[in-house]
Amino acid sequence: MKNFKDKVAVITGAGSGIGRALAQELAASGAKLALSDINEAGLKKTASDLGLAEDRLMTRVLDVADRQAFYDFADDVVNHFGYANMIFNNAGVALGATVEDMNYDDFEWLMNINFWGVVYGTKAFLPYLKQAGEGHIINISSIFGLVGIPTQSAYNAAKFAVRGFTESLRIELEMEGSPVSCTSIHPGGIKTNIAKAARFDASAEKLTGAGKDQSIQDFEKMFRTTPEEAASTILKGVRGNKRRVLIGSDAVAVDTMQRLLPTSYQKLIAMGQKYMAKK
Ligand SMILES: NC(=O)c1ccc[n+]([C@@H]2O[C@H](COP(=O)([O-])OP(=O)(O)OC[C@H]3O[C@@H](n4cnc5c(N)ncnc54)[C@H](O)[C@@H]3O)[C@@H](O)[C@H]2O)c1
Repeated sequence: MKNFKDKVAVITGAGSGIGRALAQELAASGAKLALSDINEAGLKKTASDLGLAEDRLMTRVLDVADRQAFYDFADDVVNHFGYANMIFNNAGVALGATVEDMNYDDFEWLMNINFWGVVYGTKAFLPYLKQAGEGHIINISSIFGLVGIPTQSAYNAAKFAVRGFTESLRIELEMEGSPVSCTSIHPGGIKTNIAKAARFDASAEKLTGAGKDQSIQDFEKMFRTTPEEAASTILKGVRGNKRRVLIGSDAVAVDTMQRLLPTSYQKLIAMGQKYMAKK
């Protein structure tokens, strides 16, 4: 999709971080927006800052883990605007816990948002995107969809799954000559709220030696890219119909490490974690 003017873009997790920055850049590019988030206050702030008229903006408090609510939202977006062209499956959460001690409630909470939310968004909107004659599905994975990281197994599982799901979909769409395409997005560290909003299990501290506050600080130290830069890289990828988009020099470095050391990168990560724990 080369041009966003008057295209209808749907964004989940639009109340903060990357989702909010996507809304801002898409609005500036002339798109009409359907914004959603589970956090009403954040959503309202994003919407009011845009200052768009009602015929160019709709908002919905939506939990992406609620399948029926997501399908209802898709119907309502198309009732409101008449069509839909892009779905950015962006809403996401984080969790620190070891595999052994992670409880199923936390694991399922994360998978329901980070994986099933992406599946629901894709499947609810795909028929409408086809109907519009031009569409793009943008699924936000992570560099943690490329490499495994200790205490991040749930997040890794969801983000690897988003990548596999999106790559499979891309081939299906190409094989059928669909007017819809899709892209898997792999941000490195982006300066957003994600670490502060994360759930953190005591088992993560047992393994790494870092408690919740320290872990947030450690993660945030590695966050190099602004949400605005991330949004701009994502939209460039959509315009170029890219299969995979890496965001930030850290993402490029991790991708390179994974290609050069497809399995032994794991030893490097363990060494890095031990070094951090001693500091
Ligand atoms: N920040 C990073 O370093 C980074 C790196 C790689 C990938 N990502 C991914 O980018 C995406 C956006 O995250 P962000 O960094 O902007 O974080 P953020 O915390 O700033 O924003 C995430 C948004 O998702 C919303 N959300 C959470 N649970 C939801 C639910 N059940 N239903 C609907 N909305 C919900 C939150 O309210 C929030 O507004 C996520 O998928 C995240 O995993 C982020």
